[in-house]
Amino acid sequence: MDQDIKEVLISEEAIREKVRELGEILSAEYAGKNPLVICVLKGAAFFMTDLVRQMNIPLEMDFMAVSSYGASTQSSGVVRILKDLDTAVEGRHVLVVEDIIDSGLTLSYLIDLLKRRNAASVKVVTLLDKPHRRTVDLKPDYCGFVVPDAFVVGYGLDYAEKYRNLPYIGVLKPEVYR
Ligand code: PRP
Ligand code: MN
Ligand code: MG
Repeated sequence: MDQDIKEVLISEEAIREKVRELGEILSAEYAGKNPLVICVLKGAAFFMTDLVRQMNIPLEMDFMAVSSYGASTQSSGVVRILKDLDTAVEGRHVLVVEDIIDSGLTLSYLIDLLKRRNAASVKVVTLLDKPHRRTVDLKPDYCGFVVPDAFVVGYGLDYAEKYRNLPYIGVLKPEVYR
């Protein structure tokens, strides 16, 4: 285990099993719809690429980079588009893939944007949901795990751009970010 991690919250095996389960559900949901699966960079990169490999249906992928956190542990409330989609979403069934929903600001902004671009449908799948800190009314359509209000990193989630490559979800030692 990494020396900056207090405890493993969700193991590599538990993640793999959950991703398989979600992939099965989403394959049934999106069969015949050629969904546009959108990865919200950078955090969702690992979840998205693992998830689509568990979806045995035709689909397309695209990537968007937005940031609301920067190097801070607190959401700034300002969502910036760092990289927009390459694909036109008009008339498409869009599935947004996130690693975590915290305040909900990032996703509420994105969902709004995709609807204004006339997507046929917009749904959200998140690996982690941290409902305690929600400031906007937003519920994911599909969710892997509900997590407590702790600073979690790994499997895409960072603190100041580090720890994304941990294969599990862990809780960061407080002294690391204090
Ligand atoms: C994190 C996380 C989500 C978002 C959730 O991304 O990956 O995208 O914050 O927080 P919210 O619900 O309060 O908006 P971040 O902005 O840190 O960028 P990153 O994915 O590149 O780490
Ligand atoms: Mn993110
Ligand atoms: Mg981040």
